[in-house]
Amino acid sequence: MTEKRAQFTTRLGVIATTVGSAVGLGNIWRFPFEAGVHGGGAFLLIDLFFIFIIGVPVVCAEFIIGRHTGLNVRGAFRALAPGKPWGIVGYLGLLASILILSFYSVVAGWTLEYIYQSLTGFGGISSVDGLHDRFDGFATSDWRPLMWTLIFLALNYIVLSRGVQKGIEKMSNIMMPLLFVILVVFCINSLRMPAAGEGLTFLFKPDFSKVTPSVMLGAMGQAFFSLSLGLGCLITYSSYFKKDTPLLKTAGIMASLDTLVAILAGVIIFPAVFTFGMEPAAGPKLVFEILPSIFMHLPGSMLWSTLFFILLFLASLSSTISMSEITIAYMTDEFGYSRRKATICNTAVAMVLGAVCALSFGALSGWTVCGLTVFNLFDYLSSNILLPVGGMIISIFVGWVLDKSIVRRELIGKDSGVRPWMVTVVVACLRYVAPACIGLVFIYGLGIF
Ligand code: PHE
Repeated sequence: MTEKRAQFTTRLGVIATTVGSAVGLGNIWRFPFEAGVHGGGAFLLIDLFFIFIIGVPVVCAEFIIGRHTGLNVRGAFRALAPGKPWGIVGYLGLLASILILSFYSVVAGWTLEYIYQSLTGFGGISSVDGLHDRFDGFATSDWRPLMWTLIFLALNYIVLSRGVQKGIEKMSNIMMPLLFVILVVFCINSLRMPAAGEGLTFLFKPDFSKVTPSVMLGAMGQAFFSLSLGLGCLITYSSYFKKDTPLLKTAGIMASLDTLVAILAGVIIFPAVFTFGMEPAAGPKLVFEILPSIFMHLPGSMLWSTLFFILLFLASLSSTISMSEITIAYMTDEFGYSRRKATICNTAVAMVLGAVCALSFGALSGWTVCGLTVFNLFDYLSSNILLPVGGMIISIFVGWVLDKSIVRRELIGKDSGVRPWMVTVVVACLRYVAPACIGLVFIYGLGIF
């Protein structure tokens, strides 16, 4: 089926690439707007619970499956449980990956527009209201968002067609540390804003009266989305891991850095939201309306703004590369497609669906299902439903079905520092805690009960 599989060359490369998949628009764009819509502190707390209590064990489960089999998501389940229906998770993952790639590329396209806007000084506009209106005007203007979406997908294609090591690893190694540094600089700037206290209270002080089943569902979806979890992306990536990559440690580092970036983004955004008198529940446009206003108040604003959007664009690219890799590995392994042919197929489908998502803020805003535009529908379906369902199946599979000696061998490995009791804790989470929590949130969040 497969010729010799490519591998990541260094341990830093493994961490940087996995974090590169996790860190992206999910942290910097999606987390602040979801937290804003769902009341701030309580949302963050539930999100943290899902990331560390459910997320980390399920990340380990994906790593175990991927590294043990060295296969794509569909092939991995076929190898581990031949003739059984577990492989359904592979199809759900393929569907989720293409839905996410489609709407994600639209927002990544917005970052390209904002690089251009930064370079041209946002048309000389300096008032906060003016900047907000400018975003609205852009997002509903149809051809520009459409053009950027297609350009973004073309760039994604170029990096992907260069292959695993060269393209992905090199880029992640340089970009991730730089992104951290610049986020910290912006945080310090936001903490000095007049309404910083109010913003931080909103973000960190949980108001439990705001916790509803749909807040829980939203936080669970955010945790899965942000960790790139539940769709086989991490199965695919870990199929490129070496035998001595420590899985639990990698999962822990990835979840911690991912959370740190989301919190930094919150600390940048919310003080500004309150300082500029904006509505925290503004939805997907929140971050794009607020950021230029923040940069406007910095000395050398154009430079900061350009640098930031370039990094955000690169962070998005390392995420879309990882989600595209799911379908590409699937097509090359299962159908024997060349990497180029598989990449073209993936890009073509994403361009068609991405175009519909891009237009759903303007010309196609009337196309709705249950009150959701195509863009919002793809986001809701993938994050809140497909990823948690995938995560639940994966955790049940590794917790109950997969031979425990495989789990132990993969987790303990060589020099990983993992003790047997840690394996017991991970397995207990996978067997009981994760399926029960995901199941309960579904029952209540989707109003089944
Ligand atoms: N985790 C990425 C982010 O936060 C998005 C993503 C989802 C990437 C699913 C791959 C798979 O931006």
